[in-house]
Order: sequence, then C-alpha cells, then structure tokens
Amino acid sequence: MCGIVGYIGDKKATPILINGLLSLEYRGYDSAGIAVLDKDKIVVRKDKGRVNNLYDLVGINDLTGTVGIAHTRWATHGKPSKENAHPHMDNSSTFAVVHNGIIENYTEIRSFLENKGYKFLSQTDTEVIPNLIHYYSENGIQGENPFLRAVKSAVDDLKGSYAIGVISNKYPDRLIAVRKDSPLVIGKGIGENFIASDIPAILPYTREFYLPDDNEFVEIYENKVQFYDSSLVEHSKAIKNIEWDACAAEKDGFEDYMLKEIYEQSSAIRETIGSRFRLGEKCDFDDLNFSKEFLSSINKIYIVACGTAMHAGLTGKTIIEKLCKIPVTVDIASEFRYRDPIIDKNTLCIFISQSGETADTIAALKLSKEKGATTLAISNVIGSSITREANYTIYTHAGPEIAVASTKAYSSQVVLLAILAIYFAEVLDSTSNEVLENLKSEILDLPVKISNILDNTEEIKAFAKKVYTEKDMFFLGRGTDYNVALEGSLKLKEISYIHSEAYAAGELKHGPIALIENNVTVIGIITDPKLIEKSLSNIQEVITRGAKTLIITNQIIPSDHFNYVINIPNTSALLSPILSVIPLQLLSYYISKNKGLDVDKPRNLAKSVTVE
Ligand code: AGP
Repeated sequence: MCGIVGYIGDKKATPILINGLLSLEYRGYDSAGIAVLDKDKIVVRKDKGRVNNLYDLVGINDLTGTVGIAHTRWATHGKPSKENAHPHMDNSSTFAVVHNGIIENYTEIRSFLENKGYKFLSQTDTEVIPNLIHYYSENGIQGENPFLRAVKSAVDDLKGSYAIGVISNKYPDRLIAVRKDSPLVIGKGIGENFIASDIPAILPYTREFYLPDDNEFVEIYENKVQFYDSSLVEHSKAIKNIEWDACAAEKDGFEDYMLKEIYEQSSAIRETIGSRFRLGEKCDFDDLNFSKEFLSSINKIYIVACGTAMHAGLTGKTIIEKLCKIPVTVDIASEFRYRDPIIDKNTLCIFISQSGETADTIAALKLSKEKGATTLAISNVIGSSITREANYTIYTHAGPEIAVASTKAYSSQVVLLAILAIYFAEVLDSTSNEVLENLKSEILDLPVKISNILDNTEEIKAFAKKVYTEKDMFFLGRGTDYNVALEGSLKLKEISYIHSEAYAAGELKHGPIALIENNVTVIGIITDPKLIEKSLSNIQEVITRGAKTLIITNQIIPSDHFNYVINIPNTSALLSPILSVIPLQLLSYYISKNKGLDVDKPRNLAKSVTVE
C-alpha cells in the first residue's frame, strides 16, 4: 500500500509529483506529502488527508526545484497525521525518504539510533531509514559514491518489505531507489527520469520503463539511470516499452473509475480471450506449452489468492475439476502459507492477483516454489512482482484497474481460468471436443451478453434506491452461484459499508436462517438449471420468514414469488458468474452513490495490499 513517485529533470518537479500522487491515491489516501530540493535545502510539505489537500499547503506552488519525491499513505505504523506523513527526513535534514512497505525490525533500529542521540518525530517505521542513512554517511563510509554506499548500508539493516526513494541536498544531481517485495518502476524520459509505485502514475510522460528486481539499487540522474546489484556492482538493464494508452487510466467521461471499469468488462474480456483460441482450433498457450506428460503428472492443483481474485479462483476450481478431472483446492493466501500445505513436484499452484503485488499471495507463491511445486501466476500487471517470481505467467490483459473495488479484473480472471481449463483438457484429452467447443463458443458470446446487461440498468438503479439505507443484506446461491454471492457481498461491504453475509443457500438452515426477520433483504442468484429447484426452496424458506427478495437469474422462475427479479442472458453454468456478478457490482455501486460515499476510494482500503 502507499504510493511513491519521484522526479529528476529540467522541469518543475512539484506538478509532476502531485499528478503522479493523484494517480497513485488508490494505493492509500490518508495522508500525502512531497519533498523537493530547493536551492541547497530539502523542503517538505505534508499533511493528513487526500493529495488535494497538498494544494492548500502554504508554499506548495512556490517550490520550484526540479528534483523531488512524494508519497500518498495508507497508515500501518502510527495514525494518519502530519508527523506520520511521508517524506521523512533525518535529524540533520540532509536526506528525505519515501517508503512503501513495512520495516519489521524498526523498533530495534530506532533504539540503536536513539542510543546514538537521534530523535524521532513520528511513530512510523519509515523514519528510521533517513536517520540510518545519515548515521552510515557519518560513520565508516569509504570510497566512491558515499550517498549510494550509505543507502546500501542502511538497507542492509532493514528487514521487511520496501520500495524506497531517497534524495539528499548534498547530492542534488540524483535520486536513489531500491525495492524488496514492494512495487517500483523507473520511467526513462528525455532529459528527465522518474520513479513510481506503478506505471500509470508516470505514463503521461514516458512509455519506457525499467522494472527493478528485488535488492537492486538504482541511481537516477537527469540523463542517466544506473543499476547496481546488491553488492553495488554496476550492470545494465533492459527497457520495457509499455503499449497502454495513458487515457486507459483516465475516467473517460464516467463519474467514477469503478463505473468505467464495470462498463469496460466486454472489451476487457475480448482482450483476455485475445488470440488464445478460435472455434475449431486448439487453445494457444505458447507462454505455457505444457506437455501431456507434464499435465498428467499433476495430481493436485491449488488456486491461491485474496479477496475478489480468490472468488474468481472458486469458479476456476469448478471449471478445472469438471473439464480436467484434477482435484483443485482454493485457498486464501494469508491462510495457505501458515497451514503447511501438502505440496510436492506433482502439484501445480496457480496464484491470481490483479495487481501482482499482493504480499500474502507473493509469500504463498514463494513457499510453493520452495516446496517444489510448479507455479503459475495470473496477473493483470505486466512485470509485476508475482510475475517475476512465478515459473509461468499468463496475463488477463484487462487494462489498468484503478478503483479499489475490483470488477473487470474479476471477470477477466474467470474467463482466463476457463480458457486455461479448456487448454488443459485439450492437452489431457479429458473432456470431449464437443463440450469444449461449446464452451469456447459460449466464451466468445460473453462480451455481447455483458453489453446487454449494461444497456439495461434501470431496475438495479431503482432497487439500489430502495435499499440503500439498510443495515444488513444476505446473498444466497448454490454451486457457482455461491461464488457470485460471496463476490456480491464483498463488493457491498467494501464500497457501501453495509453489513452483508453470503451463504451457500443449502447451508442457511444450519444456523444463519436465525438472522432472517421481517423485511430483511435477501439476494438470490439462480443460474444453474441443475440446482434451480433446490435454490428456489431455499429462497422460499426466507420468504416464509418475512424476507424481501431480489433474484438474479437466467432461468424461467415463478417471478410473482419474489419482490424483484433481474433477468440476465443465459450461458453455461460454468461461465454464469461472469454475467450474474454484473448486477451485483452495479448494485453496490449505486447504493454507494445513493449514500454519497467515495466509490473509488472506500475507507480503510487500498488497491494493492503490499503488507501481510
Ligand atoms: C476487491 O474488490 C478487493 N479490493 C480485494 O479483495 C482484492 O481483490 C484483493 O486485495 C486481491 O488483490 P490482487 O488481485 O491485486 O491480488
């Protein structure tokens, strides 16, 4: 969490840094700050609150320096406040640091420095970094490039995760950056260079990026970017050209990123399908090229992820098991790694992460690799940390997702998992060609069906208006509809702050039905023809107890039994989560709007969760 951005060049740094921060605000937005080299001093302006608050800070427009770093924060150590906001400086105001991540041993380092006479102004873990750099710069640094050496000595003492940007008024011609387990990109311009937590933050200025590896040090000058390994041996690094359009990360006339991204789902899925298959031809995964021998040796698959990505994984499990007859376990990443999962060389572990930076998912991946599994990452962000750790990567290509609540990433993840399952089944010969071809044809029809749903949103808007003041809601479904119930409930909690529970409809009578009382809203998802009778009986049980019901369905059901019914286009039960989730995404969106909340930046959350 937290977003960092840095600039060195021939232009005024402040506007570039603030624009970058505005684009990074999805990563955290409880405080923001900027440090710019002005003549021979570092000037810091920071406060709690959103990036826009920075404009109100005295003197922000007077900062004319051309070198600077900036930060938008998601608090971990110390509450949101001016003192805890970044950048942090050392006691002598020689070094300023922005940091994303967590320094696990900061109390130890802080005591060490306090014993040496250093004073601390904040409760953050980060403040130890500039002071440690200062300590080393004054103690025992020898040889050329003392700034870099001092940063390296300090970083060597840190345990935890970090992406760090450092400037110094003693060395005004450069900024230094280093990362470990936290995202960082370097943008290469002409006569100017940048650092940032992600690509869109600096996409308006360059399409050329370096993606530093863990423990690589980078010295960034106006006209040069120099990479060093962890022992400070210089090396060169390949540049990556990013084809994204800067506009893809703009709102494009939509009121919020979330609504834009909901509406992008048809095109996002077209991109996901890409040239992976054509009807009548085998799937093309030349980025995997798994042999029959290899896939036959896999006797167990884990799908590991967090939040929405995990919900996509649940549907992936159903599809893979059905088509490939390989048992699949879906796990929450933060649980997986601490429960000593049974993994060996015959295990395939699939990790799903939109951002590719989720700390829990990355840690789970590292563990699986250590235990000998083959690891496959599914991500939306090219070159993200997870893709660099995994043995294999496939991309969803859904385009940048900015809103904290994930929407198009989810649908593209489910689509990619479905295509992956078809590919495995083709290699393994585990399902008839006819079934696989039908499924491919259903996948190709999805974008049009999504557009149909998005062209008719009046009913869902009206329903949102009726229920937005409620305190509790329930989501019920069976089979893959249960996965959608979980996702619908998560979306509602996240951006509408309404308490909600999702249950497998058949499980209700084992306890949660005690919560059903007069007028409570229950949302049922019914799309699987095999389960329709059972699902209807479960919904009837809540109606009997006074619930008002909204049903999302592609089946013919006795609609007069329910208060509201939203019909969606039919598709295979394996793919229906891609369609049935859309009214639920819209429901939470419109409830949030009715409540006057910040849809894109819900409280307490951040887009990419880079702390464990
Ligand atoms: C989704 O709306 C959430 N904000 C969250 O659950 C998210 O899906 C989760 O944190 C995983 O993120 P990732 O896909 O970037 O790893």
